[in-house]
Amino acid sequence: MYGGPFLSLDSKLKKLIIDTVGCLLRISVMAGDRKVIGTRNREIGNESLPDFTGEPYLTMLSRLHSGLRPKAYFEIGTETGKSLALARCASLAVDPKFKLGSGRLISNKPLCALYQVSSDDFFAVVDPTVVLTRRIDFAFLDGMHLCEFLLRDFLNTERFCCRNSVIALHDCLPLDLVMAERVWPSSDRQSLSRQGWWTGDVWRCALLLKRRRPDLGITALDAPPTGLVLITNLDPSSTFLRDHYASLVEEMHALSLSDLTLAGMHAELKVEPTSAFSRFEQIARRFWF
Ligand SMILES: C[S@@+](CC[C@H](N)C(=O)[O-])C[C@H]1O[C@@H](n2cnc3c(N)ncnc32)[C@H](O)[C@@H]1O
Repeated sequence: MYGGPFLSLDSKLKKLIIDTVGCLLRISVMAGDRKVIGTRNREIGNESLPDFTGEPYLTMLSRLHSGLRPKAYFEIGTETGKSLALARCASLAVDPKFKLGSGRLISNKPLCALYQVSSDDFFAVVDPTVVLTRRIDFAFLDGMHLCEFLLRDFLNTERFCCRNSVIALHDCLPLDLVMAERVWPSSDRQSLSRQGWWTGDVWRCALLLKRRRPDLGITALDAPPTGLVLITNLDPSSTFLRDHYASLVEEMHALSLSDLTLAGMHAELKVEPTSAFSRFEQIARRFWF
């Protein structure tokens, strides 16, 4: 049974972590989580959808930043910092292994805190609203590409949002079954144009939220390479996902892309073209901070 994000805070450790805002901190990945990686439900089949033709996910994230002007940005999974660089407000990023490039990462952000830990370890000891000094307006979840990790990242992030905050999920719309497997596929199993593409099975989490949290406002976009899902009408007080975590993980793992089909899964998530959100008025009709 998973218990990571709900551990009570050790006050000394909490103080130590909060004191390190702006510094890098390394804590090892929780041993319990390693067991589930790549052990269940490998999806094998030939179905393949054409590449998305919408605007890239970074373009869409950039448009949301400039159109909606969030005051507090939270990110899980940063790597080189391409998505973090788009934020102009107080920002907090979590990644167990940053590979920051030389780009304009800090730019004109008034605050930029980096925690070099897994997201589970982060939520076990840090309250992001203390670091950001306010609730999260905009979050981008792009960490470990396995459905149970994304479910935890979502339920933990939602607690620190407002109802109208937006949580963006990356890579939830795989285009073939190989990239959607739980283990990073070897290059000989990928087409030349999709070498290195790995969505993992986070699509399961997006579908679960669609089915089990009808209160959420979910918008799925055909943003290359593998989709962007924007979620609003959040409920920070909801304990449904936490209370039913174990059975929801079982439910996600029982989903099969071979049975659902990729096209069927995209249809259930009601994938929309990014062109429906190319102008500010179109974005503001559905999202506001
Ligand atoms: C696809 S990269 C993020 C890319 C970045 N968001 C962008 O758009 O350029 C995924 C990142 O997730 C990080 N990651 C893996 N497991 C994680 C975990 N348990 N918690 C937080 N981040 C994790 C990896 O270290 C990696 O840097």
